[in-house]
Amino acid sequence: MAQTFDRDFWERRWDQVVREHPGVVAARPPNGHLTAEAAGLAPGRALDAGCGHGGEALWLATAGWRVDAVDFSPTALQAGRSAAEELGTDISGRIEWVEGDLGVWTPAPRRYDLVVCLYVHIAGPVDEFVTRLAGGVAPGGTLLLVGHRPVDPETGADTPAAGQTQVSVEEATTALTALGGWRIEVAEERTREAAGTGVDAVVRATKPD
Ligand SMILES: C[S@@+](CC[C@H](N)C(=O)[O-])C[C@H]1O[C@@H](n2cnc3c(N)ncnc32)[C@H](O)[C@@H]1O
Repeated sequence: MAQTFDRDFWERRWDQVVREHPGVVAARPPNGHLTAEAAGLAPGRALDAGCGHGGEALWLATAGWRVDAVDFSPTALQAGRSAAEELGTDISGRIEWVEGDLGVWTPAPRRYDLVVCLYVHIAGPVDEFVTRLAGGVAPGGTLLLVGHRPVDPETGADTPAAGQTQVSVEEATTALTALGGWRIEVAEERTREAAGTGVDAVVRATKPD
């Protein structure tokens, strides 16, 4: 039977991670695509959609961003919240941990200077998902989407994202082009060095003023 990547799946996954590898949030470096693509941006208000245990939300808050970190796994959110509290109120006070299902959760229009979505499995159509997240970006703000490709193009082998639908370069840029006015700054597939296998689709775009 095909694997489903629903809330129960992720709750079980995060529960196992937190039990078997306590302290994993503090130990894990933030995602390299995020640190590379967001390093030059002036801190403002950010959304991390599908934040997991919060490594990127912590990095953004430490860099001065105010962050809404959304996930549908309460266990992942609690791990992130605890890690933030350990870093002190200067960091924890900058992050709102929000339980929400990205299948339907919709950001407030034009609220965020940066919307980040890394490695989230998309249950519905990709263009609808990209359009919904793009709606939350403020004029002049940035949208950063990263998807793990399900098959390694070099070897043809399944990656850990096999069976999932994640953002692809083609679908994301098509959706943004259809919205009109977006400046596509980065749209490329990059070898996934951190995990040693596979390829990531990376799309960074700026909303028109
Ligand atoms: C592969 S993890 C990536 C976590 C984090 N973005 C990172 O790069 O480490 C995918 C995350 O998306 C969350 N997720 C998947 N589908 C979701 C949905 N429909 N609504 C909210 N969160 C979802 C999962 O709970 C999980 O934390």
